[in-house]
Amino acid sequence: MSISSLRKIVSKVVPHRPTPPPPVAASTRVDYHRLAEIAEEKALAFQHAKGKQTARERLAALLDPDSFVEIGEFAGGDVTKGFLGAAVITGFGEIAGRQVAVYAQDFSIRGGTLGAAEGQKILALMDKAMALRIPLISLLDSGGARIQEGVMALSQYGRIFKKTCQASGMIPQISLILGPCAGGAVYSPALTDFIIMTKENSHMFVTGPDVVRAVTGENVSLADLGGGQLHNFQSGVAHYLAEDEEDALDYVRSLLTYLPSHCDELPPHYDYTPSKDDELAAAEVGSIVPAESRQPYDIVKVIEHLVDYGEFVQIQENFAASIVIGFACINGSSVGIVADQPNHNAGTLDVDASEKAARFVRCCNAYGIPIVTLVDVPGYRPGTEQEQAGIIRRGAKLIFAYANASVPMVTVILRKAYGGAYIVMGSKSIGADFTYAWPNAEIAVMGAEGAVNILKRREIKAAGPDKKDMAEAAARLAAEYQAESINPNLSIQTGELDGIIDPSTTRQAIAESLEVLRSKDRSHPGPKRHSNGPL
Ligand code: HXC
Repeated sequence: MSISSLRKIVSKVVPHRPTPPPPVAASTRVDYHRLAEIAEEKALAFQHAKGKQTARERLAALLDPDSFVEIGEFAGGDVTKGFLGAAVITGFGEIAGRQVAVYAQDFSIRGGTLGAAEGQKILALMDKAMALRIPLISLLDSGGARIQEGVMALSQYGRIFKKTCQASGMIPQISLILGPCAGGAVYSPALTDFIIMTKENSHMFVTGPDVVRAVTGENVSLADLGGGQLHNFQSGVAHYLAEDEEDALDYVRSLLTYLPSHCDELPPHYDYTPSKDDELAAAEVGSIVPAESRQPYDIVKVIEHLVDYGEFVQIQENFAASIVIGFACINGSSVGIVADQPNHNAGTLDVDASEKAARFVRCCNAYGIPIVTLVDVPGYRPGTEQEQAGIIRRGAKLIFAYANASVPMVTVILRKAYGGAYIVMGSKSIGADFTYAWPNAEIAVMGAEGAVNILKRREIKAAGPDKKDMAEAAARLAAEYQAESINPNLSIQTGELDGIIDPSTTRQAIAESLEVLRSKDRSHPGPKRHSNGPL
């Protein structure tokens, strides 16, 4: 029977559910490859009916053509029960010519669930990825632990969690959620470096809608409980919200262009020929930032004016929008960028922004990617809501991340840097190698009005009792204070800043600094087991 006639039969007989290949008696000699063809045809019908690709289609779309080498294709199968292989495909392939390890859960086989065999295949692949020191990419689409296998299935997850932690910071680990990711199984991607979800069909939750209903009485949809929108905009679990599977796979390929294959490899460097467009963009960057320090603007535009070809790959774009993080290249070398976003809540640091940036700084540090910090921050966000949300504990994470980072770090203060946020955002004292400020930058413990209300309290009172007179005195004193004290002069005298630079030379200053720091010694044999930071 030809494949095309098979396809007709499949679409007629199996519109929604994949029947496994017919059970084969134990004594029969099995034509595995023929059965595999039939199984894939059925998987096609099953997955396409759900608006999803099959595991094999996904692998073909992710990897360079013909580069996939599968391992253990039929391991974990039992043809006598109609299962040709385990519910996960594992192997190696190339992305832009670089080797990666990859596994794809196959929802058409027992709901992509994880049992002993699937666990063994994934664990073996992870061992190989670490031995080969290559990135590990997982394509997840699964009902979670296979209920029939009980505690054994749970233990396999435990082993995968442990190995994921072992690999964390050694090789990049990227998870794509392309279907359900249910129960404790969500912690498998949660432990990896990046999680990518799609707008449709991508769900992550610790307890599904049925359990929620049973336990709390709450009626909630799959999307509201664990859809891509929720985890990108609200929870911050995911790092990218893809339009569809194709977009999700594209994003993985983009991410990898900025990451080394392992922690001891230098980050990627590309041939870069200085272009007129980049020079022009860099020269004009000052015109994007309004002089008035409270006026909002889009920091992403500033970043795009400073990096090679204006290409900036944002991470967690939709979450904690008062800070922007992502990868770009400067003179062909990969850098991580952390920048305040004045367009959102004036760029204040809040609990989510602190955690978002902290995780990214640690990620860059783990993989040896230099960090460029662009500062325009009025301070930590004040108020009971933030204090109650734990701004002390969670804000400390960003300090911890910068203070422990040993990669080259260059910081530029564009317009303002006040209070604790000045210190936290990659200041010299927290560990930056080189720090610069634009000429009109405001650097101080607090704004002029707040400062004179404390320092010149008596003088302002003496101008009274008329309130108007007092307000005028306060405004005059604030203006004097602003002119005298809120500028980069003190910082440059004390060595907190290495230079006051014209905005048009920002790209050049960053590029030259990174060049100087290229051979920075990163070895630090610590006298302790590990630090005990605010996790
Ligand atoms: C065994 C499972 C399964 C599971 C799905 N299936 N989940 N089999 N164990 N956990 C089977 C179904 O019975 C079905 O088999 C096939 O997979 C496809 O599932 P459907 O339900 O038909 O698909 P769909 O309608 O798309 O719904 C997908 C789903 C739903 C939302 C994932 O199946 C579901 O809610 N499953 C349970 C999810 C869950 O609670 N998992 C948590 C497990 S605990 P047939 O034979 O009918 O085709 C866990 C802990 C991890 O993961 C360890 C932490 C330490």
